Amino acid sequence: MPTNKKTFFGRQKELDAIFQNIEIYRFDKPRHLLYVSKPKAGATTLLKYVHRKLKADPQIVPLYFDFSRLATTPEEFGSAFTETSRRQLQARNFKMTGFTPIRDSRQGILEEALSYPQKAVQGKNLKILYLFDNLGESLLLEHYRGIDNVLRLLSKTTLHEHSSSIMTTSYDKALKRFHDSDSFHAPNLEIEELGQFTTREALEFLKMLLPNHKNSDLEKIALLASGQPFYLKNLAGAFKHKLEIDEEVLERIFSRAITGGSPVGVFLESYYQIILLKARYYGPLKSLMRFLSSHEGLMQIEICRRLKAKQGIMRLYLKELEELGVIYRDKRRYYFSDLVFREWIIHQR
Ligand SMILES: Nc1ncnc2c1ncn2[C@@H]1O[C@H](COP(=O)(O)OP(=O)(O)OP(=O)(O)O)[C@@H](O)[C@H]1O
Ligand SMILES: [Mg+2]
Repeated sequence: MPTNKKTFFGRQKELDAIFQNIEIYRFDKPRHLLYVSKPKAGATTLLKYVHRKLKADPQIVPLYFDFSRLATTPEEFGSAFTETSRRQLQARNFKMTGFTPIRDSRQGILEEALSYPQKAVQGKNLKILYLFDNLGESLLLEHYRGIDNVLRLLSKTTLHEHSSSIMTTSYDKALKRFHDSDSFHAPNLEIEELGQFTTREALEFLKMLLPNHKNSDLEKIALLASGQPFYLKNLAGAFKHKLEIDEEVLERIFSRAITGGSPVGVFLESYYQIILLKARYYGPLKSLMRFLSSHEGLMQIEICRRLKAKQGIMRLYLKELEELGVIYRDKRRYYFSDLVFREWIIHQR
C-alpha cells in the first residue's frame, strides 16, 4: 500500500504559492505565509515536504520547528530551539558554536535563542527559511513569569526582514491573537487557510490508494471524507478489500472506520475532548454540538426556540464553536465544518 510517511500528494495551489514566495525571497524581499488549519488537515505534511524539497538548495536554508514540541518552559524552549537549529544547520555542514546564553532574564535568554540561527549564517550568502509548525503553541510560553509578549519577540528575532517563513497554526484563540496583535509584525505576511483537497485532488488521491475501485465508488468515498487527506487515507484503508460498494456497505464500513478504536475514531475523540477543554462553557457546548449535529442550517433564533435558550447566551456559545472552527455561518445559518466529525457525534448516542 503506497501510504508510507513520505507519500505526498496534491496541494498544488499551496505549493505554487510557497515556491513562488521562495523565489521572490531568493532574489528580493522576504515573505511570510501563515496557514491556518483544522487538526489533521495536513499542515505538518506540507511543511515537511517543503523542507525535503529544499534540503539541497545552495542558498535557502530551511529550518523546521514544531512549537507544539518545543514550547515547554522558557528555559527548555531556549535549549530545545537552539539544539534543533544546531542539528539542522550542522546537517548543512555549518560549524556551529554551542549556545551559551549571556543574558540573565528569561526574556533575554529566549530572545537570544531565537536569534541563534540568524547569527549562525551571518556574513554567509545564505538565507534562512523558517518553517514554524503549530506557531500558536508558542503563546503558551506567556504563561511563565518574565515572558510578556512572545509574538513581538518572534517578530523581532525571526520574522524580520532578513528571513522568510512558512508557518502553520490551528483554528483557535491563537488565531484571534494574530489578527488582533499589533506586535506581530512580519513583512509581507499573508494568512491563508489550509483546507481540504480540491475535489479533483481528493479523487486522484483515492485513485492512487485504491487503484482497483470503480470511479463512481471513489467519488462516494471522497464525498464522505469531505476531501480531507487524513480521512481519505483512512477510509481508503477501510474500503481496500471491498470492491463492491452498495449503500449498505458504504454506511457500515464508514461508521466502523470513524468510530471506536480506529485511527479516525481515536483522533475525533481527542479532538472532541480538546474542544471542550478549550471552550469556556463545557456542559452547554456539549449539548449544543449534539443538537447541531442533527440539525444543520438553523438560524440562531431557531436554535434558541428549539432549545428554549436565551439569544444572548446562545450567541456566546455559537461564537465559541465558530472560533474553534467546529461550525461556520453562512447567511446567518450554522453548519458543521467537518462532516465526519458531525457523523462521529451522531454515532455517540
Ligand atoms: N498532502 C498530503 N498527501 C498525502 N497525505 C497527506 C497529505 N496531507 C496530509 N496527509 C495525511 O494526513 C495525515 C495528517 O496529516 P498531518 O499530520 O500533516 O496533519 P496536521 O494538520 O499536521 O495534523 P495535526 O493537527 O495532528 O498537527 C497524515 O497521516 C498524512 O499522511
Ligand atoms: Mg501537525
